[in-house]
Order: sequence, then C-alpha cells, then structure tokens
Amino acid sequence: MRAVDIIRAKRDGDALSREAIEAFVRGVTDGSWPDYQASALLMAIVLKGMNPVETAWLTDAMARSGDRVDLSHIPGIKVGKHSTGGVGDKVSIVLAPLAAACGVTVPKMSGRGLGHTGGTLDKLESIPGFRVALSLDEYKAMLATVGCCIISQTASIAPADKTLYALRDVTGTIESLPLIASSVMSKKLAEGSNALVLDVKCGRGAFMQRPAEARALARSLVSIGSAAGVRTEAFITRMDVPLGRAVGNSVEIAECIDLLRGQGPEDLTEVIVSLGARMVRLAEKAATDDEAAAKVRAALTSGAALAKLREMIAGQGGDASVVDDPGRLPSAALTRLIAAPRAGFVTSLDALLVGRAAVALGAGRDKKGDAVDLSAGILLHKKPGDAVTTGEAVMELRYNDPARLDAAAALATQAMVVGDLAPAPQPKVLGWVHDHGETMFVAGM
Ligand code: URA
Repeated sequence: MRAVDIIRAKRDGDALSREAIEAFVRGVTDGSWPDYQASALLMAIVLKGMNPVETAWLTDAMARSGDRVDLSHIPGIKVGKHSTGGVGDKVSIVLAPLAAACGVTVPKMSGRGLGHTGGTLDKLESIPGFRVALSLDEYKAMLATVGCCIISQTASIAPADKTLYALRDVTGTIESLPLIASSVMSKKLAEGSNALVLDVKCGRGAFMQRPAEARALARSLVSIGSAAGVRTEAFITRMDVPLGRAVGNSVEIAECIDLLRGQGPEDLTEVIVSLGARMVRLAEKAATDDEAAAKVRAALTSGAALAKLREMIAGQGGDASVVDDPGRLPSAALTRLIAAPRAGFVTSLDALLVGRAAVALGAGRDKKGDAVDLSAGILLHKKPGDAVTTGEAVMELRYNDPARLDAAAALATQAMVVGDLAPAPQPKVLGWVHDHGETMFVAGM
C-alpha cells in the first residue's frame, strides 16, 4: 500500500484497514516511510481520530514492532506504572523504589520529555553516571536483585513508538487519544508487566485537558490492557497546576529525594500514596486497600524507599551519594525570581505555561534530538492558596543560557494569577477506572 493513499484516506476521515495500519507501523520501523509522510499521517490521525478497533490494531502493531520481554523467571506479579505526561510529574521516580520497597517488582520503561511535559529519562540522566540504556539482560538482572529499574526502550522494544514519539514531540501531534493510548500501551505490553497502574493526567498542563477526554483515554487504556491479558487500572489526576514544587530535571530529582525523606509536598504525596497502594494491592502484597496504603506510608517514613532509590541508582551506574547530598546534582549558574505583582493569594499557576517556560529555559526540546539542559528548571516558591506580598518571589527560574531568559520569564509571568481570595484546596486524584467499573471522586468528571 502506498503511504500517500493511507495518508489521504485518513485525511478524508476514513477508518484505516488493519493492513494499512500495519504498513504504516512497518514503514516507520524499517525507515521506508520518511519522517514527512509519517508526520502527515500523524497529523491526519490527530485531526480525524481513530475508532477503538483502529486504536487496538495500531497498539498491537506497535507492540509487535519489536520484542516482548518475558519476566516469568522472576517470581510474583510484576506491576508497571505509566503516566500520560504532566508538568512537575516525578511520580514514577518515587513510585518505582517505593513499590519495590513494599515487595513489588516494578519493570519500567519510560520516555523523554514530550512537548511541554518533562520526561522521566531526562530527569534521571541528571544524576551523574545514571544509565537509562540498559540491555535487556541488565534490566532483568536489576529486577531480580533490586526489584525495580527505570530504563529507556531498548532498540528492540516497541521501536515504532520510539520513532513516532520523537516525531510527535516536534510536529504538534501529541494531543490525540489513539496516539497516546497506542504509545503508552505498546511499551507497557512489551515491558513484561502482568499488571499496570496508569496515571491519566487531566487539566491545563495535560494532553487531555477536559475531564471527558481524560476519562475516555483512561477507558481506552484499561480496555486495551485487559484485552491483552494485563490487569490494568487508570487513575485520573489533576494537572492544572504543576505537581510538587520543582519543574525541570535535576531540580525534580532533588524533590524526589526530599519526598522519600518524608519532606515532600502534599499534592505529590497524595498522588504517590494512591497509586502506590494500588500497585501493592495488584501485586497481592496487602489484603485490603487500607493495609496497602499503610504499607506505602511506612516505606516512605522508615527510609526503606529511600534506600531502594539508592540501590536503583547504584545498580544503573549512577552516583548514589546524591541521595545523601543532593548538592551533587547539576545546578544552574543563573537564577531569576518572578515576583507577585500585588499582594493577595496565588489563585492559579497554569501548568501548561509553566511547562513551556521550563522548555524555554532549556529543560525540554524544541527539535527532535536537541540536548536538554539538565540543570535548567523552575522552583515554585508559592502554589495556589498561598498568601503573597507585593514583590514576593512566586517562582525561581534556574538557567544557564541568558538568551533563553526573556521568553521563559514572559511565560512564567503569564502563568501566575494573584487575586484577593484563596482558592479552595482541590483534591488531586479525580477518578479511577478499573476492570470492573469506574469510580469518580469529584463532581463533573
Ligand atoms: N506517554 C507516552 O508514552 N506516550 C504518549 O503519547 C504520551 C505520554
């Protein structure tokens, strides 16, 4: 089948045949489809969508574009975790060692920054020496000995996703239910997990901004996973404001260490305990939800999860002493404070604009293959609900390249709203979609 005919069919709103979808995935994998044709089809999919059957075929073809890891030699239920992407979303970096400290084996293949959202791999690479590109044998050995590790897709795992992910990042083709669902699930089905806990972000800083879209994505992910025999659950979590108080790479690693020392921000802790408890339950390491949550909290406060992070970093070649001395992480040479224009309360901090500001500082990529600045980022001194006086610092931009400052400062300033009244605190966990139903925790979901 000719690429141009497949692109035209989707451009005109037709459903693609399985054969057409397989030709596309094959072409992307073997390089016979050039980037411009793959990008054109991606854009047509963003604009015209895909039905659930096309989405399932696309996921299956992408998962089969490479190997599927067999972890059956490691005893117990292996539970994976994935996020659809947010700003300040460092949940995986805490959850993998935390769940492992509770006895869960956590296989985890992660991605790089996508659009305005940060990437777990970029963050981990800010730890001196940390290797994300482990071989499959090293991956299996880490899981058998440490119980967790976070790696990049090896060349043999869902290679079609690897190519498409990098293209989507720079062609405005991220925000699409079938493209996100197939990207997430092709990797997850290949990484060797028997069960999955997914974090579907919803709000200004997420790829799914509206509750109905996030819920539809959560349903699609759960149904693809369940159909493939992997017990899958998805939480829908709020992403209107960056999660935690750090956005970037090394600054987020430092925040993960704080959290594992029991000094983490409340919003981040709420998401981590909810997802961690489900990972413990799905691994059958606790008999009730309360017992699972208590186990997770105990691993956070006892230092067991922090010790597991140390082991994971050392096992992946990194300098584990950063856990005791985060000052060893790369830090930016320059800082600029963004001040409150008036006294009052911070009423909003738009996650999308803060994410774009972090990318403008160099923490993310503008073009495929760009290097990221591992120490650039933003610290949020204030969050919505906090009182401020005129001129008080709300954000701190950290950067190395002065040419990047003006654009970033303009975005950060635009992201901040200060008003007279403190907004009511908002729960972070909005809903939960699982294999026997859906539970929504807030109205309007
Ligand atoms: N995470 C992924 O792995 N893929 C997407 O498309 C979005 C988030």
